[in-house]
Amino acid sequence: MPASITPTLSPQELEKQQAAAAAVRWVRDGMVLGLGSGSTSAQFIIQLGAAVQNGLKVQGTATSLASEALARQVGIPLLEPRRGLRFDLTVDGADELDAHLRLVKGGGGALLREKTIETASDYLLVVADSSKLVPQLGRFPLPLEVVPFTLPWVLDALDGLGAHPVVRPALADPSQPYYTDQRNLIVDCHFGAIADPEALAARLQVIPGVVEHGIFLGLAKAAIVIQHGQPMVLKPGEAARPATEFAALP
Ligand code: A5P
Repeated sequence: MPASITPTLSPQELEKQQAAAAAVRWVRDGMVLGLGSGSTSAQFIIQLGAAVQNGLKVQGTATSLASEALARQVGIPLLEPRRGLRFDLTVDGADELDAHLRLVKGGGGALLREKTIETASDYLLVVADSSKLVPQLGRFPLPLEVVPFTLPWVLDALDGLGAHPVVRPALADPSQPYYTDQRNLIVDCHFGAIADPEALAARLQVIPGVVEHGIFLGLAKAAIVIQHGQPMVLKPGEAARPATEFAALP
């Protein structure tokens, strides 16, 4: 490509690439991987695909149809869902994470498949640019996946919780709702600062029709987050350490 039309990456896109590159260093021959969704995960999948072209032997299952298509395009062998399938490592982005590695996910609408694969994973590694680490969850609207028939009652219940719920519109035609890979709706909740994510998660998961919520608790074992231009590894209760100190899954 001539230099004049080389796309210029924004600082945030460069950070996503950097975090993804650091995560690829944790992958080993023979691993079964969960492949996340969203733009940071896409960077990971692209870079993993390059490693596969260079001889790395891995297999994976994707957390969205979009990630599955990308993985296929870059030559990563894919595994269909089946009983007993577990993942050595899943690498995924987040919309927000806090110091305890509690996450808000689902900005791309893939929260149900993400939580399913991540619950079946021995190790969830989050990859994130510097904007994602927050002192308290809640600035990013919390996504819920909702069965269409149940929507009116789900919205009533959410109003009662102070969620200020908004049914997510389709990107291409905002007069239509957005549908997930499962043909469900996404409701984005504007709670503001979430003081007690565990308590909120417990309230949301008992609303009939809410298939899944975007609060991910106790799943992430580590996160690679760009801080001051460097990929840093964060673990709950530990000081951040440069990713260069980790040659493999710790
Ligand atoms: C997909 O539904 C999400 O959970 C993504 O993992 C999250 O939105 C992060 O996406 P980006 O890497 O594009 O910020």
